[in-house]
Amino acid sequence: MMNNTLNKRLLCASSFVEKGAYVADVGCDHAYLPIYLIENNIASGVVAADINEGPCEKARENIKKHSLTNVIKVIKTDGLYGIEKYRPDNIVICGMGGDLIWKILSASEYTKCSSPLLILQPMTKQNVLRKELLENGYNIVDEELCTDDRLYEIIVARYDGIKREWNDAHLLCGKLNAEKKTPLFHEHIKKITDQYTTIIKGKSTAGIDTSYEERIIKELRDFLK
Ligand SMILES: C[S@@+](CC[C@H](N)C(=O)[O-])C[C@H]1O[C@@H](n2cnc3c(N)ncnc32)[C@H](O)[C@@H]1O
Repeated sequence: MMNNTLNKRLLCASSFVEKGAYVADVGCDHAYLPIYLIENNIASGVVAADINEGPCEKARENIKKHSLTNVIKVIKTDGLYGIEKYRPDNIVICGMGGDLIWKILSASEYTKCSSPLLILQPMTKQNVLRKELLENGYNIVDEELCTDDRLYEIIVARYDGIKREWNDAHLLCGKLNAEKKTPLFHEHIKKITDQYTTIIKGKSTAGIDTSYEERIIKELRDFLK
């Protein structure tokens, strides 16, 4: 963390944290995000959790350096186990695969019982995470794209028990991203269509039908109109 600020990816995620919220940062690693949230008077307190002792140790050292041991509690745990008792208003999970993020969320009843705001930044399998959230009664209330060393996606969700369905193209790019069409949306669509073009090339060489991939590319390009 340089000059008390975060990288653009974590800054973007932190912009969704509600003012005065008690926050859980799952997979906190260095604890830069919790430190930022407290030093900028965004969160009232943070439980910073990580499954590995190394990151927990790093987090404790950084928190101590910033004299924030009274407001940021570090715990070594898997996902949301043991976090329920802190009753977080917001849960941040950044820098993990979309499937792991879903595994963590679905292993605990807390996000269903207390409906905290979920601020998620999946590195991969964003479409899988969106599908699981929507099918399991979580509403995707906002989405954002940001660039740092590459393009990142933020998904903000909250449980309301209503199951929803998005088509495959919306699951891939994020329906709210398609509605918002921020300046990074064009680059976002290009990145996904490039991946699908590569799949088409491979399948064509093997003589496999590519009509699904072609339809996805068309639908994604139509969002740019
Ligand atoms: C790539 S780092 C991301 C750190 C930070 N959240 C960020 O976005 O910069 C992933 C962190 O998640 C932790 N982690 C992985 N699986 C976890 C789990 N099931 N529960 C808690 N932490 C986990 C790892 O130990 C690691 O510190």
